Amino acid sequence: MNRRLITSALPYVNNIPHLGNLLQVLSADVFARFCRSKGYDTMYICGTDEYGTATETRALQEGKSPRELCDYYHAIHKDIYQWFDISFDNFGRTSTEQQTEIVQSLFKMLDERGFITEKTSTQLYCPKCERFLADRFVSGTCPSCGYEDARGDQCEHCGKLLDPTELQNPRCSTCGTTPEPKETKHLYINLPAIQAEYGPWMEDTAEKGQWSKNSVQMTQAWIRDGLQERAITRDLKWGIPVPKEGYENKVFYVWFDAPIGYISITKELTDKLNNPDIDWKAWWLPSESNASNAKNPVDLFQFIGKDNIPFHTVIFPSTLIGSGKDWTKLYHMSSTEYLNYESGKFSKSKGIGVFGSDAKESGIPADAWRFYEFYNRPEKSDTQFTWKDFQEKVNSELIGNLGNLVNRTLTFVSRYYDGVIPEGKIDEALWAEI
Ligand code: MF3
Ligand code: ZN
Repeated sequence: MNRRLITSALPYVNNIPHLGNLLQVLSADVFARFCRSKGYDTMYICGTDEYGTATETRALQEGKSPRELCDYYHAIHKDIYQWFDISFDNFGRTSTEQQTEIVQSLFKMLDERGFITEKTSTQLYCPKCERFLADRFVSGTCPSCGYEDARGDQCEHCGKLLDPTELQNPRCSTCGTTPEPKETKHLYINLPAIQAEYGPWMEDTAEKGQWSKNSVQMTQAWIRDGLQERAITRDLKWGIPVPKEGYENKVFYVWFDAPIGYISITKELTDKLNNPDIDWKAWWLPSESNASNAKNPVDLFQFIGKDNIPFHTVIFPSTLIGSGKDWTKLYHMSSTEYLNYESGKFSKSKGIGVFGSDAKESGIPADAWRFYEFYNRPEKSDTQFTWKDFQEKVNSELIGNLGNLVNRTLTFVSRYYDGVIPEGKIDEALWAEI
């Protein structure tokens, strides 16, 4: 049996996780438990996504250093997922030495193979805050659908990925000032140059690995439009240093480093275990590993929400392909639609929704939450969390149907067979019908 490497999207560290985050972690957990119960050699990896402007800004607001802020929230995330009984093999974080080492080495491989280009670009600069504005700290009108509150990196309304300079009526999200375009130099990953190798891999894998439909559609749309070069550096402090002359004041863009977190969190685990037969490379770069399980092929199953699709189906695999090494790449993509709250969206920034801490303090057992979230998983279209439906489904399905069946079966076995299931054969006609 192939080994199974399982990941769920690394939640941003700078907030308390809500039921929308839990959804990915839980989906992967259910699958990981299934795989282990079937005897697969399984590794389930997750952790907090810690770098970038969102953390830097939040730290400023809370009067902490980014490191302190991450330590604080990482512990909260860990604690909440533990309460929900998520069976990670490791729940790590991206702000580690292992992450710096692997991100920088992947970057160097890409650079040596000619897949990194340098460009001078115009970026929005807020004269009042005296800094370049990260994409998500600019808001304005989406050029594609006209939504007025689109973020510079992506329009929440139509899902289009944006460059902040495309926004109409841009404003600084921190102070509201109209930002000014200003020149700066950045490094890009040359996706068009990798496409010749990436394209056939994608077609083949999407089919073999039975990707969720939304991810196939979105990825094919990206390929159809032609892949673009994408900037992988930012003017920031809280991030991974760029090992290249002239980039001393810049760091890698968080979306370049984050997916590599899956790899570094595996390494952080195996470094900690310090057992030569449990090796991160056995999972991610098996051709370079001597561990005894390394010869057995690995299938990578990734669980994410639909807003993370292109990063996992295009950019991360292209990074790995472009490095020229035989990394383990995506096999099955499980990408859900959105889980909404009552009739709106979960929003951490607006404090709308059910947060892990609320669930924990609700007095409702974790298993009831797990049941309802999974039952209500937005597989083909968005679903809603409503308190009323939660109550009804737990009472009718979990307790009424499932609980009752188990209870009756056990009572029956106990009453008539002294608690021991007798040898027997199921009626074949009945079995066929079942
Ligand atoms: N932090 C991102 C989010 O919550 C997900 C990152 S997934 C990773 O949307 F693979 F890039 F880490
Ligand atoms: Zn500003």
